[in-house]
Amino acid sequence: MAAIKTAIPTRRFDAVIVGAGGSGMRASLQLAEAGLNVAVLSKVFPTRSHTVAAQGGIGASLGNMSEDDWYWHMFDTVKGGDYLGDQDAIEFMCREAPKVVYELEHFGMPFDRNPDGTIYQRPFGGHTANFGEKPVQRACAAADRTGHALLHTLYQRNVRARTHFFVEWMALDLIRDAEGDVVGVLALEMETGDVMILEAKTTIFATGGAGRIFAASTNAFINTGDGMGMAARAGLPLQDMEFWQFHPTGVSGAGVLITEGVRGEGGILINSNGERFMERYAPTLKDLAPRDFVSRSMDQEIKEGRGCGPNKDHVLLDLRHIGKDTIEKRLPSILEIGHKFANVDATKEPIPVVPTIHYQMGGIPTNIHGQVVAPDGAGGQKIVGGLYAIGECACVSVHGANRLGTNSLLDLVVFGRAAGNHVVAQNLKQKVNKALPKDAADVALERLNRLETSTGGEKVQHVANDIRAAMQKFCGVFRTQELLDAGVKEIMKLDERRKHVSFKDKSKVFNTARVEALELDNLIETAKATIVSAAARKESRGAHAHSDYPTRDDENFMKHTLFFSEGNRLEYKAVVTKPLTVDTFKPKARTF
Ligand code: FUM
Repeated sequence: MAAIKTAIPTRRFDAVIVGAGGSGMRASLQLAEAGLNVAVLSKVFPTRSHTVAAQGGIGASLGNMSEDDWYWHMFDTVKGGDYLGDQDAIEFMCREAPKVVYELEHFGMPFDRNPDGTIYQRPFGGHTANFGEKPVQRACAAADRTGHALLHTLYQRNVRARTHFFVEWMALDLIRDAEGDVVGVLALEMETGDVMILEAKTTIFATGGAGRIFAASTNAFINTGDGMGMAARAGLPLQDMEFWQFHPTGVSGAGVLITEGVRGEGGILINSNGERFMERYAPTLKDLAPRDFVSRSMDQEIKEGRGCGPNKDHVLLDLRHIGKDTIEKRLPSILEIGHKFANVDATKEPIPVVPTIHYQMGGIPTNIHGQVVAPDGAGGQKIVGGLYAIGECACVSVHGANRLGTNSLLDLVVFGRAAGNHVVAQNLKQKVNKALPKDAADVALERLNRLETSTGGEKVQHVANDIRAAMQKFCGVFRTQELLDAGVKEIMKLDERRKHVSFKDKSKVFNTARVEALELDNLIETAKATIVSAAARKESRGAHAHSDYPTRDDENFMKHTLFFSEGNRLEYKAVVTKPLTVDTFKPKARTF
């Protein structure tokens, strides 16, 4: 591929959405139905986006199977997030939840049903009735394929609304004008290797997470932090990136997700003594405590020698007592995953599991409408014109320091819809696209040209694998200052090595080597943001468990971290403790 210089083809839209998972397609539906000219870019066919892998359910206080209230859902979310979540956004999400779930039902989403025809709901970690009294049934489920059902439903509605999909296209970088407003993206068509400018009055990032910066991950290979990388290179901050969720039940050695819905249906975790050890750590919620709590408890059991298997390196998830009929009806994919990835028949044998990276709580900072915000230099926040972020790549922040299961699908749909509504209200049809700056594509073209002409000796896969190994080693379930400081040094070295990667095959058509090299720039931005932010947070909160600072320090660290790529600089900003209409939930010790 010769160096790309000028005359880049350009297409003009009202809105461009990068990412076709649950949040991207919920937003695009809102825009397309309002008659806007909307393009959705996706590295994969939309129904293969990572939302498809979500299993257990979407949280909403419908109260179909046990008494429930949005206010209890809000309490659980605030407490689950260890009081770092913004309570205005959490109130908004929990109040909206029943509405968006019924809307999905009316779109045709095939939820499981109760005998009376209402949506089936199962218990899930950290979701309780009456402010922590007992588990509640709040996860609205389509067997153990809820994300699959949701994604297909949204795709079909988008086809009906004539959303324009660019399938197997990768956005490379944002285009910002002299005022700092975002006016579109430069993108690469993977099939041809050609680039194109997509001009937009509004650009929405819905690019998902970056779980592939870790070696053992439940995430799809596409989750390389593309939105975070583009934002960081454009000078925008990344918020609360030190908080990464380990899902308690990844298949040991394979990483594949075993839904928390298994424990919702009655499954239990046992150690090598056959003990249901969660009874000791969380006497009320037991196996259904929040994920940070359960993951740490599992890690503790393994460290204290009560792990299972020849290497004593995992625990067991026992669902035999649930019964074959219920397993086949409610957890069919788990049965299949058990067979294929653990070689067990889950109706007869327990599944070997370990805490596995699953979700990033941090991301691109936004307000409740999905608009990206950044410090204004005078102690406040300003809106970045023309740019929204939604879903896992965004930090609104509803999950604080630890997300509750089922709140991720909810976040996608609530904030995808909210961002869509906010964009629609701006009457984009009456506005013209802002002029493209002369150097519109320079940032992205420089990256491309560096790769095209590089003769450096580093291989993309080696550097990417070393990033994953380093993050796994230095930024795990339990962290120490020594480990984190060593991790910062290691990741900075890898950033240097990344600058010298090259690939031999420069052909254009479906050249995955080029795509992986471009993804590497995004992996490293996310890894740097994570490790630098983590090394500076000298407390334990939610998923950030710091052995040298084992308690939460509200006096010094009840604040959001903002990471800036230039100079690897950190700033902090206040947590919103005031909800919209109800009283603040004040920080308390987190016991379950
Ligand atoms: O366990 C699960 O089914 C995952 C759900 C989630 O991350 O929300």
